[in-house]
This record gives sequence, structure tokens and C-alpha cells, in this order.
Amino acid sequence: GKYRVVSTKSMPGTRWIRLLTDNDCRLEICTEHKTILSVDDILALIGDRCDGVIGQLTEDWGDVLFSALKRAGGTVFSNMAVGYNNVDVEAANRNGIAIGNTPGVLTETTAELAASLSLAAARRIVEADQFMRAGLYDGWLPHLFVGNLLKGQTVGVIGAGRIGSAYARMMIEGFKMNLIYYDLYQATRLENFVTAYGQFLKANGEEPVTWKRAATMEDVLREADVISLHPVLDKTTYHLINPERLAIMKKEAVLVNASRGPVIDEAALVEHLKANPMFRVGLDVFEDEPYMKPGLADMKNAVVVPHIASASKWTREGMATLSALNVLGKIKGYPVWGNPNQVEPFLQENLTPPP
Ligand code: GLV
Ligand code: GLV
Repeated sequence: GKYRVVSTKSMPGTRWIRLLTDNDCRLEICTEHKTILSVDDILALIGDRCDGVIGQLTEDWGDVLFSALKRAGGTVFSNMAVGYNNVDVEAANRNGIAIGNTPGVLTETTAELAASLSLAAARRIVEADQFMRAGLYDGWLPHLFVGNLLKGQTVGVIGAGRIGSAYARMMIEGFKMNLIYYDLYQATRLENFVTAYGQFLKANGEEPVTWKRAATMEDVLREADVISLHPVLDKTTYHLINPERLAIMKKEAVLVNASRGPVIDEAALVEHLKANPMFRVGLDVFEDEPYMKPGLADMKNAVVVPHIASASKWTREGMATLSALNVLGKIKGYPVWGNPNQVEPFLQENLTPPP
């Protein structure tokens, strides 16, 4: 191949590999066994000659790596993720490196995981599972693992972009919840969906669902029974959920986070969980990933999973494919998919829809 492309990890599927190798690229996939590569590990992979890199959200892509990539003749980096808080976009721009991410293919998968965490927390699924496995079940009881009924409750969404809106639709359509959301932008399509679904329910003699766009985030926290966080992580959303905001939430609320860990002050959350046994959380991400703050693992009112929100086969293959398209697109002179700063999405029509 004319071009040397490096992937810092092996990724699901083979289509992404063929895309590159069928189009003049020599692909090198890192075989290092350690989970998180250091900057030095990646410098060694880039070497003296590298046209583009596919990397992971666990890696710190800043000036050191982008200037090395530039010196090696590289022009493009794709994060195999929709989130790109691990990427210093300004440093990339300074070094003339185009950035790609992988929006779109993980919207529904991530929303489904957030919905799973909502249900698992509301209905105490993990606690109940552990109880069964421990051999503690000795007969049905009216009080056993009583949780929250979602129907007719209010789902609160903070960040109503692609993922937040998809999550809201699932909870509204699936469980007939009312919506309150907070976003700087108006989620018109989501609002229209709730209105239409409410009319449908009413026409069928059922209680209609309603929506409200909150003026402040605090309104969502005060009013919602289930709250899911879907902002991007940046300076403005770091510790968005802090002690003051935890304090205004309902004592029996469910809080879900499948965005980025530092959106929640996790130490404060642990204290809140201790003080409020009926308050429940479902967490896919952690402030000091892969670690949990002390005490969190002991909390029965927390459901915790290891950053698996985009982990469906279709989605992970799609993310790998988009990453390859990002790199190939730049090398071949096309715009880069999902470039957060410069370019509009492209090639979406070439993806296979989910079955
Ligand atoms: C995963 O966390 C992603 O941002 O894609
Ligand atoms: C955010 O990146 C989203 O897809 O909603």
C-alpha cells in the first residue's frame, strides 16, 4: 500500500480492514496487550512514517501525538467514538491534522443501554439478581424489592441531542412517561413526537403523554423521576451534577449516566447514595475510569457497568467502518465523517441499517 495507517486497537468486523487494504493502505493494528496505551506507546506506533491513525477514547490525543503525526507525514486522526473529550481539537488544527469521530451508528445502541440502566435501577434488577444467586430467596413477599413504576412518571433528559432524544423516545413510547428536557437547542422533532404520541394515546382513551422544555437544568432535576444525562463533556459540563444539584432531586429519583464520567461529581454522588437509600443510579461511565470512587461498589442502590453503551455488534462494526472511512476520506481527499469542527457528515447512505 501507498499509505501507512495505524489502528491502536483491534476492532470488530472486517469491513473496515478491507476498506483500507483495498484502497492503497497498509494497515498496522497494534497487538499490545495492555488495555490503555500511553502517549509513548502511540509515539512508537506512529514512527517516522504514518498517514493516518484510528485511535480510542482511552488515549490522550494532544499536541505531543498530533505534532508527531504531522512529522510522520500524517494528515488525519479518527477517534473510534462519538465523544472526543480525549482529543485536543485545537492542537490537531494547529498541526493540520483532520479529526473524525463516529456519530450516528451508536445513537440507538447507547440510548438502549441508558434505557436498560433506567429500568435496572428503577426495578432493582441487579440487587434482586444478587439476592437470588446468594440463595436468599425463601418465598414471595409483598415488600420484596419494591421499586418504581415508570408509567405516568416524568423522564428528564439533560442534553437532547441524538442520543438524548432517542433515549427520551424509548422511555416515552415504551413506558408512557412524560418528558421534561433541558438543552440549549430546542428539540423540535422530539417535541413533535411527544405531541403526536399524546394525541394517539388520547384518541385511544388513554392518558396522553406531555412534554416540557425546561428553562433551567434545576427544573429538570426537581421535577423528573428518572433523569438521564446526555451532554458532551467539556468545561461547561464538568461536575454538572454536584452536591447542590443532587440535593434538589427527588429522594426516590433514578439518575442515569451513559455520557462521560466527569459530568457527575462521583464522590458527592457516593455520599448522596449513602444518605438516600431510595435514590438509585445507573452508571456506564466513571470519573476516574476505569476506577470507581471509594464506596461506590458497596452501594446497593447503584447499578454499574463498564462503559458498554455502544457495545452492540452492529454499532461497533459501524464505528470501526466509520473510523476507516474518516481516515480514507482524508487520505483520498474527501471530507471527514463527523468532523466536529469543520466538515459535514458524509457517506451515511453507504451504511447498512440495523436489521
Ligand atoms: C463512547 O463512549 C463514545 O463516545 O462513542
Ligand atoms: C452526542 O454526541 C449525541 O450523539 O447525542
